[in-house]
Amino acid sequence: MSAGDTQFFSKIGLIAATVGSAVGLGNIWRFPAEAQAGGGAAFLVLYILCVLILGIPVMLAEFSLGRAGRTDAIGSFSAVSPKHKKWSCVGGLAVVTAFLIAIFYMVVAGWTLEYLFESLSGGLYSGNTANPSSEVFATKMETYISGGWHPLIFTVVMVLINLAILLGGVTKGIERLSNILMPLLFVILLAFCIVSLTLPKAGEGLVYFFRPDFSRVTPSVILSALGQAFFSLSLGMGILLTYSSYYPPETRLVRTAGTVSFLSILVAVMMGIIIFPAVMSFGLADHGVAGTTLVFSTLPEVFVRLPLTWLWSSLFFLLLTIAALTSTVSIAEVVIRCVQDRLKLSRRAACYWVMVPILVLSSVCSLSMGMFNFLDFLTAEILLPIAAIGVCVFVGWIAPKSLLTNQLTNDGSIRSRIIGLCLFIIRYVAPALIFLVLISPLL
Ligand code: PHE
Repeated sequence: MSAGDTQFFSKIGLIAATVGSAVGLGNIWRFPAEAQAGGGAAFLVLYILCVLILGIPVMLAEFSLGRAGRTDAIGSFSAVSPKHKKWSCVGGLAVVTAFLIAIFYMVVAGWTLEYLFESLSGGLYSGNTANPSSEVFATKMETYISGGWHPLIFTVVMVLINLAILLGGVTKGIERLSNILMPLLFVILLAFCIVSLTLPKAGEGLVYFFRPDFSRVTPSVILSALGQAFFSLSLGMGILLTYSSYYPPETRLVRTAGTVSFLSILVAVMMGIIIFPAVMSFGLADHGVAGTTLVFSTLPEVFVRLPLTWLWSSLFFLLLTIAALTSTVSIAEVVIRCVQDRLKLSRRAACYWVMVPILVLSSVCSLSMGMFNFLDFLTAEILLPIAAIGVCVFVGWIAPKSLLTNQLTNDGSIRSRIIGLCLFIIRYVAPALIFLVLISPLL
C-alpha cells in the first residue's frame, strides 16, 4: 500500500472525513425526535453535557488507540499492548458491529437516495398532493420504503456508490468525497435555517425548541441523551479507531475531538432550528416528529406548502443523502481496513470481499423490516455499548499508562491539561454509565 493511502492528506480533510462519519441520520432525524420527547432544550442541554463529559473522553480513547496502533480495529489492541492479545476481541466485536450496522444503514441510505430521486423527478409530488393530507405522503412512504423493488434498487445503487468511493482509497476516495460534500452539507443546512426562520410561526417553534421543559426529564430521557451522544459521535463502532489510524503524528487529538463534537452538536441544533418552526407553522406537530415519519412524510408535507417545492425537497434529500453516504463509507471502511490488514489483501480485493457480502445482505434487509429492526436493535442497544465499554477498560486499565499521555501530547511536544480528567472518566465514569445504558431496558 502506498504511504498516501495510510494517512489523510490534509488537516481539513481528516476533520471533514471524521465529521462526515459523525454527522449522520443520528443528528438529522433522530435528534429532533428525541428532543421533542425529552423536553426540547432540556434534552439539548443533557445531550451537550453527555458529549462534553463522556463523548469527548471516549472519543479520545478511540483516537489514541487507533493512532498508536496504526492498523485496523483488531490489530490496534495487540499493537498497543502485545502482552494482552486477547483484548483484540474487543476490536473484533467493533468490526462485527460495524459490518452489521453497514447492512441496515445501507438500506436507510438507499431510502434517502430514493427520495432524492423522487424529488428531482417530481414523483414524490405527483398525483393527489395539491391538497395534501398526511395520508398521501404516508402512502408514498409505504411504497418507497417497503414496497418491493423500490428499496431494493436504491439500496443496491447506494452500495455500488460506496464501493466506487472506497476503491479510491483513503485520500482519493474518502477524503476527497468528504472535502466536497461536508461544506455542501453545511451550506444546505444554513439555507434551510434561513428559510425556516422566515416562516410565520418561527418564533413559536424556536420557543418550543429552546425553552427547556425540565419536567419532562426522567431517568430514561437522560439515558437516551447519553445513547444519542454516543451514536451521533460514532463511538463504539471502530470508526474513530480506524480513521485515527490515518491521522498523521502531528494531529492534535484533543482539538480534533473538540472540533468534531462541536460540529456534530451544531448540526443537531441546526436541525432543531429547521424542524420545529416548520412543523409549528404548518400545524404538523402532531403528525409525528419521529424519525422515519418526520423526514419521509411530515417534511414532504412542509415542502408542498412552500413555494419552490421541488427545489427545497431536492435540496433536503440531497442533504440527507450526503449525511448518510459519508457515514456508510466510514462504517464500511472499518471492515475493509480489517480484512485488508488481517488477511494481507490489496485494497481492491478487500473492498470486494467486504462490499459483495454487504450488497447481498443489505438487499435482503431492504425487503425485510424484521431483519432491519433486529439489526438496529442488536447493534445500537447491545453490541455498541459493549464495544465502547471494552475500549474504555482497555485504554483505562490494560494498555500502558503512557498511551493516553503520549497520544494527547503528541509524544510530549504539546501540552494537554485534561489527561488526568480524561483518564478518570475513561476508567470509571464512562464504563459505569454505558453499562447503565446497556441494562436500562431491563430496569
Ligand atoms: N454518527 C452516525 C450518525 O449519526 C453514526 C453512524 C455512522 C451510523 C456510520 C452508521 C454509520 O448517523
